[in-house]
Amino acid sequence: MLHATQVTLSKRVLAHLDAKTTDTTATLAHNDITAFTSPDRAAREWEQLFLGRPQYLGLSCQIRGVGDYLTNDDLGVPILMTRDEAGKARAFLNVCRHRGARLVDGCGKTGRSFSCPYHGWTYDTSGQLIGIPDRRNFDGVQEATYGLRELPLEERHGMLWVAPRPEIAASPNPELEGLDEELASYGFGEYHHYKTHARRWKMNWKIAIDTFLEPYHFPVLHKNTVGPVFFPNLCVVDGFGQNLREVLPRRSIVEMHHQAEADWDLVEHSAIVYVLFPNIVVVVQIDHHEIWRIYPVGGKADECMVYLEFYIPEPATTDKAVEHWRKNINLTLRTVETEDFPAGEGIQVGLLSGAQDSIVYGRNEPALQHFEKVVGEAVGARPLVGE
Ligand code: FES
Repeated sequence: MLHATQVTLSKRVLAHLDAKTTDTTATLAHNDITAFTSPDRAAREWEQLFLGRPQYLGLSCQIRGVGDYLTNDDLGVPILMTRDEAGKARAFLNVCRHRGARLVDGCGKTGRSFSCPYHGWTYDTSGQLIGIPDRRNFDGVQEATYGLRELPLEERHGMLWVAPRPEIAASPNPELEGLDEELASYGFGEYHHYKTHARRWKMNWKIAIDTFLEPYHFPVLHKNTVGPVFFPNLCVVDGFGQNLREVLPRRSIVEMHHQAEADWDLVEHSAIVYVLFPNIVVVVQIDHHEIWRIYPVGGKADECMVYLEFYIPEPATTDKAVEHWRKNINLTLRTVETEDFPAGEGIQVGLLSGAQDSIVYGRNEPALQHFEKVVGEAVGARPLVGE
């Protein structure tokens, strides 16, 4: 993040601390519970927000070398990403052109080619078919037309954006409007993938994202974990088109009162949360980055799949480093998986109980209001109702 931006945001935080305030919206907002329970609404979100636009699927460092590969199965089609011999990141349907077998699972390093586990057809890292066992019995098959089916991929700021359908452009513009320079400043592509943790939850995908979007709950739900680290109910929020940035200040930020502005480091004294529309939550922490990918399972309203990707600045090559990052990720998971997401599953049950027709977002929850508003607008849903 540019230092000038850090200073501007820090001054907003410090002003709120002095005044005992937080960023607010003009009004409360009510959201119809069908946003989280309606199969029709879920189907529109699935089609328009997940299948119909480019998706962030990983960082460049996950396919740093030629033949490194990464797969994804959350978007209705099996996707394979790899890096070809020219260094270009590519995405394909993870499907053999002989009889449709899956080529690879998970992630790894293939070398110079992918060999189908069924009959051994072989493809190079640019997707070209280069080998057919017993070639004489496939006379009519031309290598040039039996390559892997390619999907559009754009590598930007160390992030891999893939279109799940070939006819869609991979470019995340204008979705990153106003954030390009800021995202580039973090050097995501130079980081190292430490671990990806995956788990399925019985709640709407937006409820999982909502939990990152206000610190109002910190002193209550997180009183025994991260609550004491952050100022409660204090956030600085800015929208960037459909995306947003939320600064959650750590209590240590008061040290800035005794520092020259030139020495201010906002990242050191906060967690900076970005929502990259629609389903990516990036959390920039003091010493690492977390990227959360959250998907409705098969487009369902009440079930989501959550991935936490944990990225660190240097590979963990010593026992001490491994132990450090193990503790770090465990604190993150303990906070989210024993506090936030169980609360989210309870909310999903509560929304279906008939207790209310709508839920209410306070003026002190601006990021939450922004996110729910733009998602609703994108699928033509009933707007949030203010007061
Ligand atoms: S299905 Fe792949 S080689 Fe036969």
